[in-house]
Amino acid sequence: MPPAASRIHRLSRVGHVTQEHAQKAGFETRAIHAGYEPDPTTGAVIPPIYATSTYKQDGVGGLRGGYEYSRSANPTRTALEGALAAVEEGERGFAFASGLAAEDTLVRSVCSPGDHAVIPDDAYGGTFRLFDKVEKVWGVAHSPAPVSDVDAVRAAIRPGETKLIWVETPTNPMLNIGDIEELASVAHDAGALLVVDNTFASPYLQQPLSLGADVVVHSTTKYVGGHSDVVGGALVVRDLDLAEQIGFHQNAIGAVPGPFDAFLTHRGLKTLGVRMDRHCDNAEAVVEFLSTHPAVRKVVYPGLADHPGHAVASRQMKRYGGMVSFRVTGGEEHALRVCERTRVFTLGESLGGVESLIEHPGRMTHASVAGTDLEVPADLVRLSVGIETVDDLLADLDFALGG
Ligand SMILES: Cc1ncc(COP(=O)(O)O)c(C=O)c1O
Repeated sequence: MPPAASRIHRLSRVGHVTQEHAQKAGFETRAIHAGYEPDPTTGAVIPPIYATSTYKQDGVGGLRGGYEYSRSANPTRTALEGALAAVEEGERGFAFASGLAAEDTLVRSVCSPGDHAVIPDDAYGGTFRLFDKVEKVWGVAHSPAPVSDVDAVRAAIRPGETKLIWVETPTNPMLNIGDIEELASVAHDAGALLVVDNTFASPYLQQPLSLGADVVVHSTTKYVGGHSDVVGGALVVRDLDLAEQIGFHQNAIGAVPGPFDAFLTHRGLKTLGVRMDRHCDNAEAVVEFLSTHPAVRKVVYPGLADHPGHAVASRQMKRYGGMVSFRVTGGEEHALRVCERTRVFTLGESLGGVESLIEHPGRMTHASVAGTDLEVPADLVRLSVGIETVDDLLADLDFALGG
């Protein structure tokens, strides 16, 4: 054996975390090692970007590793899907071209025309639009209910028709908290699945499957990817029959990410733990600063003792996250002015990247719910607190608020 090859052979057996070890390890170890073992041929530590649409077969039907066509499976995506399942403490992960593609695939996997879903009354605007303008036309009805009110969620169920109880916790942008254990029991009593959109918390802060949820949804565009350079989505489940249904629809509908996007998302996931801790540190400092600022009439953050979901959040989340919303004293005009005056916080949609973002939900991310029950307050500003130097963030907000 030539020297390089013999060294690689040795390294392939020692000095890396096997998948068996990775599955049982702590969060950060799983995020870094689960889903992929160094390439047996080259020793590549990071999953290569398999830019291929098809795979050579060794005789008709003789697939190598099950790979046939990249809509069905691609090794770069397989590595990401394995890592997503591991960090969410699920059995199977599925990656999609966007969070909404994941959501649509899930609805078509488990609902038929005539079915019904309960959705948050302050859901992400795009999720509401998906149910209201797409799934409704396809025959799946929906009713909004506050995720923080288990009785209201129970009352919104249509016996025999409700197949999904869909929650975000924390919600976007009001940061309301749903009790995942209680909601799971309400869903299961009704023969429905509990779906938790875990985008805001990220798997580092909260693992809904461990609390009884059936499906976790992510816009991996946000904290999982973490660098505002890729759009993606994910579903993670424990039940293998449900996984089978989703896997069938993932391939049949085909809203999958390409290998470049899967690579970037997987790279982001590896540093999720350290990034989230800094997001939380900075968000806590921002909350403290805003709470005493004369131009702010209310700060919304689940880490505050006066937040109605504080006790539940403390039970089911590790920390309270990097998203902060606040209402200003001078109404909508004032909120718009604050959004336009920051220099470190970038005015833009999205969230969860390393850079801080500011936005006006009423005119931006949630414009699609204007005039509906899901409308958000006009004086509300939403921050995605990034991981920059915290003093720069505080000075920027002080300037924007007119201090
Ligand atoms: C909570 C939440 N869920 C789902 C989505 C949709 O994800 P995507 O934009 O990746 O399609 C978003 C997007 O902002 C979101 O904030």
